Amino acid sequence: MKTYRENLLLFSLLIFSSPLLALSQGPPPFSCDPEDPSTQKHAFCKATLPLEQRVKDLVSQMTLEEKISQLGDDGPAIKRLGVPAFKWWTEALHGMAYGGKGSIRFNFNGIFKATSFPQVIVSGATFNPQLWYKIGEAISTEARGIYNNGQLDGLTLWGPNVNLFRDPRWGRGQETPGEDPIHISKYAVMWVRGMQGEPMGGGESKKLKTAACCKHFTAYDLEKWGTASRFTFDAVVTEQDLEDTFQPPFKSCVQDGHASCLMCPFNRVNGVAPCGDPNFLTKIAREEWGLDGYIASDCDAIGVMVGMYAKTPENATAVALKAGMDVDCGVHLQSFSNLALAKKMITEADIDRALHNQFATRMRLGLFDGNPLKQNDYGSISKNDVCAQAHQDLAVQAALEGIVLLKNTGTVLPLSKTQVTSLAVIGPNANNASVLIGNYQGPPCINTTPLDALKNYTKDVKYVAGCNGAACKSAAIDQAVEAASAADHVVLFMGLSLEQEREDLDRTDLLLPGSQQELITSVAKAAKKPVILVLLCGGPVDISFAKTDPKIGAILWAGYPGQGGAQAIAQILFGEYNPGGKLPVTWYPHDYTSIPMTNMNMRANPATNYPGRTYRFYQGETVFPFGYGLSYSNYSYEFASEEKTTVTLGGLKSAANNKSPECQKLKFNTAVKVTNHGPMEGRTPVLLFMRWPSATEGRPTKQLIEFDSVHLKSGETAQVQFAVSPCDHLSRATEDGKRVIDKGSHFLMVEGNEVEVTVA
Ligand SMILES: *[C@@H]1O[C@H](CO)[C@@H](O)[C@H](O)[C@H]1NC(C)=O
Ligand SMILES: *[C@@H]1O[C@H](CO)[C@@H](O)[C@H](O)[C@H]1NC(C)=O
Ligand SMILES: *[C@@H]1O[C@H](CO)[C@@H](O)[C@H](O)[C@H]1NC(C)=O
Ligand SMILES: *[C@@H]1O[C@H](CO)[C@@H](O)[C@H](O)[C@H]1NC(C)=O
Repeated sequence: MKTYRENLLLFSLLIFSSPLLALSQGPPPFSCDPEDPSTQKHAFCKATLPLEQRVKDLVSQMTLEEKISQLGDDGPAIKRLGVPAFKWWTEALHGMAYGGKGSIRFNFNGIFKATSFPQVIVSGATFNPQLWYKIGEAISTEARGIYNNGQLDGLTLWGPNVNLFRDPRWGRGQETPGEDPIHISKYAVMWVRGMQGEPMGGGESKKLKTAACCKHFTAYDLEKWGTASRFTFDAVVTEQDLEDTFQPPFKSCVQDGHASCLMCPFNRVNGVAPCGDPNFLTKIAREEWGLDGYIASDCDAIGVMVGMYAKTPENATAVALKAGMDVDCGVHLQSFSNLALAKKMITEADIDRALHNQFATRMRLGLFDGNPLKQNDYGSISKNDVCAQAHQDLAVQAALEGIVLLKNTGTVLPLSKTQVTSLAVIGPNANNASVLIGNYQGPPCINTTPLDALKNYTKDVKYVAGCNGAACKSAAIDQAVEAASAADHVVLFMGLSLEQEREDLDRTDLLLPGSQQELITSVAKAAKKPVILVLLCGGPVDISFAKTDPKIGAILWAGYPGQGGAQAIAQILFGEYNPGGKLPVTWYPHDYTSIPMTNMNMRANPATNYPGRTYRFYQGETVFPFGYGLSYSNYSYEFASEEKTTVTLGGLKSAANNKSPECQKLKFNTAVKVTNHGPMEGRTPVLLFMRWPSATEGRPTKQLIEFDSVHLKSGETAQVQFAVSPCDHLSRATEDGKRVIDKGSHFLMVEGNEVEVTVA
């Protein structure tokens, strides 16, 4: 059976390929035109009244039929009240993207493309929070530009994906910043602030530039693996893992990012469907975290509940509305709410609650304040701001900062611009611009391939694909070997593509597909000098063979680096940029796949040989560890002061409420001295970890607690200041999911150095 989502994908493809369908569109529609006297009688149109009152007035004027019509992602116009149609589903994960109910139209009226930033896993590798904010800011500017130009029917954008990259096989791991909850939390906060028009340092954003949505709440990180499917999977999660691993990104996204939306997933969590669970949606998200906005379902997730979690369609409707879900991505609620009302499973008040959250969001977007083009904050953003040079430059910058140098024997890299006379470029990923983009993509402003970019540096470039795609079912090894043996230098572009990892498709192994390894090894053997291997892939691959092969001199992980990726790779290879990215996930050996992907446990279990997950709990061998990444320069990191710090808990009652005055009072600062010993200037992430004296009772071996990224000239030293908040950073989750702070020793760690913090 095709799901709603799949049907819509077909629908969108049709729309995109037939420009005539949409030619009649004009500027964006809006409510409450001040030039239309009929709208002036409505209290909901009076911008001076409190939001609460305006929303109440609007909802009270709607008939039951009108109310029910609004419960899906495709909300039709209510002409009688001057309320235009609104489409809730638009994708913007790393740039304005296809998807959604055809709500974005790149095919008429002047905007055909949008800036494609690196896939999120690459942005994650920058460990640069300011950059994440700027990317969110640029994407929301492009969203407003497209909206103002009449090519978009909504400003509610369904990103970021802040699920944890728990298992290396996950097809959507590429969409996330990585495997660490604190790292993801910071990404979520900065990106959402940028998207919603809040200042970088936080503050109030009553008016929304766009409305961002943190998904998928919660414990969603499996697509289709063996017989397990995201539509039927029941994620069995411990209280301890929920508290310190799965929930923190969502909590931060709501509390500090002020995200105006959460999306609940397809999967169940410990037997309950989050989309139908009042504990997750109402008690935790709204009451404990203070969500100010709406809760959307993943597309078709309410329909999917039928038969699995709810007996009948009307029961699923009731369960979702009673739990606190507000926008059904799908048509289920629009179809079955009448029946649920007739059977007295819900009341009109349940529907009113959903509408209240919906229209409050639409009003905060400024869509009930007259013509958005005349509003002085976002009204002047135009089509000239889409694919603006500054955004395209930012896309290159993000790729430069995110690409990770994994191996560099001697001085294989950087290549010399004057001395490289001929280059053999080999591999299917060298000459396919769409491989650079990853999933949840839009049409990028430029389509430069790595091969194009390298031709700018060396005149004599010979290209051999070697395989007909990343799957590499058969390889033209002889042809590749011939090109390699004739060239001065060889660069191979290998890895994965969306054929191996994407939504609805997990991998079953961690190896390079098909004949890739044989091709790489043969080419390396034939080449005059050690070869350079560039990997394009979202999830990690086990390339132990390349790590140890002396004929492979350098390895670069470029992820899916976006539209600026080709230029960034060439600049790094030829030493115009000094790479500094750090891996945001653990690269496991292939035999890690002997554990089932369906086992959600983060903690290792020696009794069953279960190795645990991510750098926080996995103690086995790695191909490359979390945080790994080389550079053309040598940096050193040390604490500015070796002095022991003492934290006195005093009357602290609970570490759970990190915003409480008791928690705030415990904060202290620590500084890390970073020196670039040269020879090149560069940017390096600085990662501050914490550990306990022993990793017992489920304590992580170590935990990232803060990070930043700093640019240093060769020979320069800088101090990076970190504020340590004991409630956030020194606390741990007990087995029953409580947050506690242990008394006694804790150790802050940066590279090989440690300082002690005693909690008294
Ligand atoms: C939905 O069905 C379940 C199982 O029969 C029942 O326990 C629950 O009360 C029903 N929910 C509503 C809101 O009707
Ligand atoms: C090649 O270099 C020129 C001049 O610096 C630049 O304008 C162009 O965009 C580059 N082309 C590619 C494919 O990188
Ligand atoms: C380029 O890569 C995309 C995405 O993986 C794939 O769908 C397409 O078939 C590839 N094109 C060619 C010519 O190999
Ligand atoms: C890098 O710098 C550190 C600290 O100054 C030094 O101990 C080390 O030998 C240097 N490594 C290289 C490869 O230069």
